[in-house]
Amino acid sequence: MKIVTVLGSPRKKGNSNTIAMAFGDKAESLGAEVKTYHLNGMNFKGCQGCYACKTKQDSCILKDDLTEVLEAIHEADVLVMASPVYFWDISGQLKSFVDRTYSYLRPDFFNRPDPCRLPEGKKGLLILTQGAEEREHRDVPQKYEHFMEHYGLHDRKTIRGAGIHESATAEDRAPYVQEAEALAREWCGR
Ligand SMILES: Cc1cc2nc3c(=O)[nH]c(=O)nc-3n(C[C@H](O)[C@H](O)[C@H](O)COP(=O)(O)O)c2cc1C
Repeated sequence: MKIVTVLGSPRKKGNSNTIAMAFGDKAESLGAEVKTYHLNGMNFKGCQGCYACKTKQDSCILKDDLTEVLEAIHEADVLVMASPVYFWDISGQLKSFVDRTYSYLRPDFFNRPDPCRLPEGKKGLLILTQGAEEREHRDVPQKYEHFMEHYGLHDRKTIRGAGIHESATAEDRAPYVQEAEALAREWCGR
């Protein structure tokens, strides 16, 4: 099983990254091949709105550190996206990545039964952490689950770590880390 993990928090050992790494580490121990990208340490631009991916070629025309990530997702069985909630949404780093995936959509995607250039059947895991309690920001996972659905990731899970602040301890994160490890066991077949 091939897994691509895209980390949206600038905090390498922060809450969302830790939960995502727990999923990846467990999956790797069960034989999966895991590629992890820490967006904050990478050199890339947001979508330029040039529409070259609709008019000239079937991939993003920009060549930067996201090129490899966008290609790796084509080959992957599982896409993991992790982010803190920043101002009622995902982090800017992850949003810029999401915008670049516009290149996965075919030119007339809104009129097609097969809108996406990605092969169907991938799994998707969304990991979101937030300082606020669980009843806040429920629209954030909804939006990005919709994004995953649109891209043909029909088998999806979301792990939401609510009420965990920047000062959260390993104990605070433990339930979400356990949830991530259990999911890795489920998806990696043990
Ligand atoms: C710029 C910024 C904006 C934030 N906005 C929100 C917010 O709108 N709602 C919320 O619940 N927490 C907000 N937080 C808190 C983080 O979402 C929370 O601490 C999260 O668990 C951090 O995840 P990380 O350790 O993966 O970076 C914000 C934090 C920062 C730094």
